[in-house]
Amino acid sequence: MASIPFSAWLSLIGLMEAHFRRGLAGRDAVSEEIARVLALLEPLPPLSGPFPRNRQPATRHLEAAFQAGSAATADLLATIRPVASHLPWRYSYTKRKDAPGIGRNIAFAELVGPKAPFQSDRVCLGLTLIGPGTLYPAHAHPAVELYYVVAGMAEWTAGENAQRPAPGAFVLHPSQVVHSMRTDAEPLLAVYSWSGDDVKTLSAYTSPNPSPFHE
Ligand SMILES: [Fe+2]
Repeated sequence: MASIPFSAWLSLIGLMEAHFRRGLAGRDAVSEEIARVLALLEPLPPLSGPFPRNRQPATRHLEAAFQAGSAATADLLATIRPVASHLPWRYSYTKRKDAPGIGRNIAFAELVGPKAPFQSDRVCLGLTLIGPGTLYPAHAHPAVELYYVVAGMAEWTAGENAQRPAPGAFVLHPSQVVHSMRTDAEPLLAVYSWSGDDVKTLSAYTSPNPSPFHE
């Protein structure tokens, strides 16, 4: 398969930033975080190497995610779609015996970050994909995380708060706040960013016994 031109990655990241900019009008914690992330992405870090194409089983859910989009994110989905199979998908958690199939249903593609093609130690930008009928168990990390829902409705829990954000909505996870997501019939595709003092420490599961996981 032909490689993806460099300009396609710039277009994708530029469109992610454009969607983030839509949240600047809120004048709240989300808009503050968006402003912080956009500033860290300017200028975009240099491309440090090729995109390490990394097939992950969860990417079998991409097509259903594209079908689960909405008008609010249609342009972003149309830009992701032709490059989706070339993204550096990975699953970075250690295996857990109580959820043996979880790595088959969750994948992350980081475009900007400490080990991403656009190398930065100060900010991360990427995509999260969660298959249908999947619990992404409670986890936490030092970085401040901002999610932007691209496709799929899921239950998002952070601390004591649960919500079902639609495509086009933002979800902010402050540093070390425990959060989880649970999908139903639809997969979930979302843009994420990380900022703060420590974007190098990976996320870690916080619950040893998540509720039953099914594929
Ligand atoms: Fe997170």
